[in-house]
Amino acid sequence: MSNYVIGLSAYFHDSAAAIGADGRLIAAVAEERFSRIKHDSAFPTNALNHCLAEAGITPDEVDRIVFYERPHYKFLHVIKRHMAHYPFRPLSFSRSIMHWMSEKLWVRTRLSRDLDIDPRKIGFTEHHHSHAACAFYASPFDEAGILTLDGVGENNCGLLAKGSRTEGIETLQTQTFPDSLGLIYAALTGYLGFEPNSGECSTMALASYGEPEFMEFFDHLIQLDGNGQFRVDTSYFDFTADADHFYKPQLSEKLGGPFRNAGVGFSSFKPIEDQTASDDNRKAANVAASLQRKTEEVIEALAATVREKAGSSNLCLAGGIAFNAVANSRIRDSGLFTDVFIPPDPGDGGGAIGAMYAGFADMGVPAPAPTAGQIYAGPRVSVSRMQPLFSNLEKEDWISAAKGGHVSQPNTAPSLLVFEDTTEKHRYLSKALADGAILGWVSGPAEFGPRALGARSILCDPSNIETAERLSTKVKFRAAFRPYALSVTEEDAATLFGTSFRPDLTRWMQSTLSVEGTQREAVRAALHSDGTTRPQIVSKDDHADFHGLLTAFKARSGLGALLNTSFNGAGEPLINTAEEAMVFFARMDLDVLCVENIVITRLNGSKPKP
Ligand SMILES: [Fe+2]
Repeated sequence: MSNYVIGLSAYFHDSAAAIGADGRLIAAVAEERFSRIKHDSAFPTNALNHCLAEAGITPDEVDRIVFYERPHYKFLHVIKRHMAHYPFRPLSFSRSIMHWMSEKLWVRTRLSRDLDIDPRKIGFTEHHHSHAACAFYASPFDEAGILTLDGVGENNCGLLAKGSRTEGIETLQTQTFPDSLGLIYAALTGYLGFEPNSGECSTMALASYGEPEFMEFFDHLIQLDGNGQFRVDTSYFDFTADADHFYKPQLSEKLGGPFRNAGVGFSSFKPIEDQTASDDNRKAANVAASLQRKTEEVIEALAATVREKAGSSNLCLAGGIAFNAVANSRIRDSGLFTDVFIPPDPGDGGGAIGAMYAGFADMGVPAPAPTAGQIYAGPRVSVSRMQPLFSNLEKEDWISAAKGGHVSQPNTAPSLLVFEDTTEKHRYLSKALADGAILGWVSGPAEFGPRALGARSILCDPSNIETAERLSTKVKFRAAFRPYALSVTEEDAATLFGTSFRPDLTRWMQSTLSVEGTQREAVRAALHSDGTTRPQIVSKDDHADFHGLLTAFKARSGLGALLNTSFNGAGEPLINTAEEAMVFFARMDLDVLCVENIVITRLNGSKPKP
């Protein structure tokens, strides 16, 4: 009989649930996929139910449930922070207390009541231990150094640790509030006009257009002690305020902001010398570049301490900071480590998986190294609902929806094709893509984490700038300064990146790589202005259907690579149901929608001849 452990994260952002049997992950999904609220922080009831259903068990068969942090410990630190500021912000203080007292403190009570299980089965682990467990137990390593960095957990903002598959995770040192790299990055993200705790990827993208003009100030702001710790000059910040107001007016005297149009005038489709941003927007890019460089320096310094203290040439990295693909690349290329691992969701959503692994470790059940494709652990789209839904829609329904939406050819009603043969499906879709189509692609269980990895993706020809611009303006409404990502087969990776590239951190778009000069035109639409891209290198073992599509596209274009962006609307989570996919297709300028073996197309509806 198997041991079942559930891990949960909730109440800050990216609530999620994960379930494993005998140390192996079975299912994991974020609550946002069901609630349709991006970064949903609510208790993950839907995600939890999905996990139980996937495991095919009832709650009484669960051996342990582990929450990803310790609420009472965290609450104590919230009180301490408010004590330091009272009587300022009495409203936010009382709101915070209400939320804690009404819900956040009572995780055990709620779970035991909702699931009707013994409260002794419910446990807690520390926030950064969840991050560390998520990174280490999901890695291929038997032993590794571990570095976690984020905004703040209970009171820690970072952890340096050592992981052993047999002996567990040993804390080496911690970084505590308010000396937080994640909070500084969030504060500056708000200062640049993006949404804190969500728009950090925009800050990172903006940084590549700027020069680190403000390094002297950032060197003062964040001071490394040479022993793997750093101090933040908090006179410029108030981290007890709402995230939008983390920065104080004093910051503007140094940096000339706050900024509200950062990114305007920059385009990833143009070379760096052809950018047309205003002086103010260039200054914003310089602020971002300074912050980014300082961030990289701090992470590298801390990683060097982990290398020394843990004594391992492997590194596992997690916490929200590990979403920073440019900083991750610097660690990989630093020469400090032979191999670096970052899970597909190193943030708080991934904390649910970490809590699950921590639960198994407490029970003495060793987590085996994960197998290929294991991150495709989310819900499937019900393909059986596609055909009945399609047949009940009239031509006028499609035309009316398209005219009210963003469809280039709104008068063309789509047709539906059923492919019994996967090769034939790949052939049809690859021709459409080579002809300039934008494809909504759904295949198998959803990927865990915020990045689309070929299970819920929108795809197009990476050499076709015109198509990519249509994708930006009529499908994704994406700011031009943010580059798209690229999926490429493992067989063609060396063609793009050279034979000596390092493949670690390329499985789930965790890093950037420079594209060989001769190949840049072939992937121009998925290339950043600096000649890099954020690749997903796809193997047949990881995702056979997606790999098959990429391979079929190679037969048309000469390269097994596609521009890959997430299948969602602006500000929405990845699509989760047949109905959501169909409605998205009806309103947006997708030319083809493929859900498993069903294809709905606005192109010539006939299947190609073999
Ligand atoms: Fe975190």
